[in-house]
Amino acid sequence: MIVDRQGRRFRNLRVSLTAACNYACTYCVPDGKRLVAAQDELPGEALAKGVAYLIEAAGIERLRITGGEPLISPRLDGFLAAIAGLGLQDVALTTNGQLLSRKLPRLQEAGIRRLNVSLDTLDASAFRRIARGGDLATVLEGMRQASAAGMRIKVNMVPMRGQNLDQVLPLLDYCLEHGYELRFIELMRMGHLARDSNAFLQQFVSLEQLLALIGQAHSYQQASAPMDATALRYQVAGKGHFGVIANESVPFCRTCSRLRLSSTGWLHGCLSSGNRHFVGDLLGKPRHEALPALQRLLVKALGDKQELAFSGGVTVMKVIGG
Ligand code: 5AD
Repeated sequence: MIVDRQGRRFRNLRVSLTAACNYACTYCVPDGKRLVAAQDELPGEALAKGVAYLIEAAGIERLRITGGEPLISPRLDGFLAAIAGLGLQDVALTTNGQLLSRKLPRLQEAGIRRLNVSLDTLDASAFRRIARGGDLATVLEGMRQASAAGMRIKVNMVPMRGQNLDQVLPLLDYCLEHGYELRFIELMRMGHLARDSNAFLQQFVSLEQLLALIGQAHSYQQASAPMDATALRYQVAGKGHFGVIANESVPFCRTCSRLRLSSTGWLHGCLSSGNRHFVGDLLGKPRHEALPALQRLLVKALGDKQELAFSGGVTVMKVIGG
């Protein structure tokens, strides 16, 4: 097992199936161009081989499938089939929900029981302005069906001043009512927001500001969360929970156990680092050759983690999926 001086190790792997997305959210892409797949994305089976090798080389226990938007990828079915026998403790998926109804049977068949759905507003026109793609009613219907089928749903919302701050309470009420756990994600200095600090500061909403807003309508108490969780969790008495991923306000780098594999075969040890390590060529090699090489790269990737706090990263979220 590879462990660093702070006692951190890789436990959670996130695999981006594709950089392509049917949205073009303002915080992810600056110019609103629709995102296409990179030329050199690996087949689902090769990415699954990566998962298998990383389980052995790094001690991965849990997997999250991300993108881009993973449900638009033709690699999804092959990948799901190939990871089926790997003995992972947990497989979850992050999606924007557009194709959820259609893909639900396949996800269930693959043993996926937990979904994170990105949704920044319940207002249809704000939705079009922020996501610049997709349709609000389709997402809500997808979540309803997934929940009815027994999936646990978390909703990711990025609160932004001037964009959707008026949606914090309506979205929280909606989620509490439907049994979804809302998770507010503090805006992160990723991609263009790492370069344009004005745009970042104008829109950024801190944990304190967010809790003050929620406090106007609800009384809540902090609840417990797992050791390496990224979210602070709160309980609204008798109604349910919500979480806040407070990258800026309460950094969680000290307990970060995440490793990311991109659709083009690069390992990222830290979202806040420009470093990445190519493993695409190792995935076709036999185990005895691949594992030692992979272990050397994992040492480097673990060394890329920030000591304390996220400081911003040039990596664009669409490539690595959060
Ligand atoms: N800051 C915060 N959250 C972001 N996401 C994408 N880009 C950013 C950013 N710059 C969110 C998406 C998705 C999750 C995986 O990350 O909304 O829900």
